[in-house]
Amino acid sequence: MGAWKMRSLRNSLVAVALLLSFVCGVALAQAPDYANIGRAPTDQEVRAWDIAISLDGDELPPGSGNAQQGAPLFAAKCAACHGRDLEGTSHGPALAGGKGTINTLQPQKTIGSYWPFATSIWDYVNRAMPRYQEGSLTADQVYALTAYLLFRNEIIGENEVMNAQSLPKVQMPNRNGFIPQRLEDIPDTAKRGCKFGTCP
Ligand code: HEC
Repeated sequence: MGAWKMRSLRNSLVAVALLLSFVCGVALAQAPDYANIGRAPTDQEVRAWDIAISLDGDELPPGSGNAQQGAPLFAAKCAACHGRDLEGTSHGPALAGGKGTINTLQPQKTIGSYWPFATSIWDYVNRAMPRYQEGSLTADQVYALTAYLLFRNEIIGENEVMNAQSLPKVQMPNRNGFIPQRLEDIPDTAKRGCKFGTCP
């Protein structure tokens, strides 16, 4: 086949492919229901997926736990990867320490030194830990483990009970260490980079 013929064949193939994708696109856009393709999820299935806990903790489920209850759980389910003293291993990061290092040249970012919201710890442990057994913890266990992590980071006391009411009230050390998304929300105009009354 000559080069010219080859090129024209290729061009017409491209044209057919374009036409097909257009026709399919129109067909799909017009099809209101996807007959024979899957099914609508049940309410129960949607609830099982809908586990996100927002920063204000509004979605936190009933249940509770304190650090004393969390300590044996941590030793059994988490220490293998995160270390007995939460110091981290080659299988998982440190979960404590780094206090006061965030604004230095060697910041050590842990949940205690870096994370701004305690509710994120609950959400993360609940959805993603223990690794390879995600979703295996009960709400009480997640509260107890979160309490243990907060206690070991010297943020709450050993007997303080964490639940849907108390957890969102925990003030994380680095809560105010982040630059607001909008520059105009930085109250200190010098930190905002304003010079001679002109701000960026
Ligand atoms: C098999 C190893 C393994 C086990 C067991 C495990 N983790 Fe993890 N964990 C990890 C790894 C790896 C990461 C980092 C994941 C990433 O950054 O993507 C992590 C991240 C975390 C973080 C976030 C740390 C950060 O600063 O980003 C928390 C909190 C945490 N794990 C808590 C737990 C708790 C609580 C348990 C026990 C219920 C647990 N983990 C069990 C491996 C593990």
